[in-house]
Amino acid sequence: GAPSAAAASSSSPVLRRYYSSESTPERKVAVLGAAGGIGQPLALLMKLNPLVSKLSLYDIAGTPGVAADVGHINTRSEVSGYAGEDQLRQALEGCDLVIIPAGVPRKPGMTRDDLFNINAGIVQSLCTAIAKYCPHALVNMISNPVNSTVPIAAEVFKKARTYDEKRLFGVTTLDVVRAKTFYAGKANVPVAKVNVPVVGGHAGITILPLFSQVTPSANLADEDIKALTKRTQDGGTEVVEAKAGKGSATLSMAYAGALFADACLKGLNGVPDVVECSYVQSSITELPFFASKVRLGKNGVEEVLGLGPLSDFEKEGLEALKPELKSSIEKGIKFANQS
Ligand code: NAI
Repeated sequence: GAPSAAAASSSSPVLRRYYSSESTPERKVAVLGAAGGIGQPLALLMKLNPLVSKLSLYDIAGTPGVAADVGHINTRSEVSGYAGEDQLRQALEGCDLVIIPAGVPRKPGMTRDDLFNINAGIVQSLCTAIAKYCPHALVNMISNPVNSTVPIAAEVFKKARTYDEKRLFGVTTLDVVRAKTFYAGKANVPVAKVNVPVVGGHAGITILPLFSQVTPSANLADEDIKALTKRTQDGGTEVVEAKAGKGSATLSMAYAGALFADACLKGLNGVPDVVECSYVQSSITELPFFASKVRLGKNGVEEVLGLGPLSDFEKEGLEALKPELKSSIEKGIKFANQS
């Protein structure tokens, strides 16, 4: 009868393998900078993600310890630690997704652009290795200044003739996470229900939350929206100052990075309608890179979605951010073509 047929098919090793590989394909994910403040909790969160089958943890030092520690967690992925440039090839080969939180964070009084001199070189060398060892991987760039490091990565990939604009993402998810949290607090709505796009870039005034599109809408006063916008833009600085010299956002960033990586993996796996904000190559404004809602799919970016209707306040914010974002993009492109 039916029950025994079902039992027979579920005990068939061939069938079981077929079904399990259909539902959860093998996915290798690397974290570059995995021993750092973001890297460690991000490694933990990626170890908890059932979509990951191999987790590759790379840093210039310290990764064997992080890998041994995280590797004892009894979840799906197999964890390997790699330390030093001569292990970068092994860390990257076969990767579907590479997440980059490598580089120095801000201290009080610093802007993200103050990190440029150190982080630009780090990103350039890591992307050179990605072009060589896993040219088809999606790249999630966390290292700041994101407004410039994404254009640097694009130039490196162009030189290596591996550039595919669909596979390069600046991670701006933390701006969205913050906008949701701050809005829910002010509007007194359940935070889990809040949705709000954040567009532009990832530094100061280039971060533009579109509270006119927030759901559920609580019809906050203009001055409240202004204050929420400012708090979202300064969210990173709020953490840098509270940590008083001990770094910038690491735990909330790891959460945001894990959320965005999960969305990328879902897209790769063919889950429909995965939409997240990200800083990508774009033609929705005159700037070559811009953050907006992006539909994720089997090849990375499936569609860059438009901004939708903006309030007058947001229109002003959009015009105000363009010169700064433009110059950060140009700075990145110039750096990559000079060195
Ligand atoms: P951290 O200093 O704690 O960790 C950085 C790690 O990168 C260190 O373990 C270091 O050894 C490693 N590293 C340095 N050079 C490397 C190389 N060539 N290859 C591999 N690893 C290398 O810094 P934290 O707090 O983890 O921040 C990392 C980056 O993320 C910073 O640039 C920071 O500004 C940025 N960030 C970005 C955010 C975003 O929303 N996109 C939010 C918060 C921080």
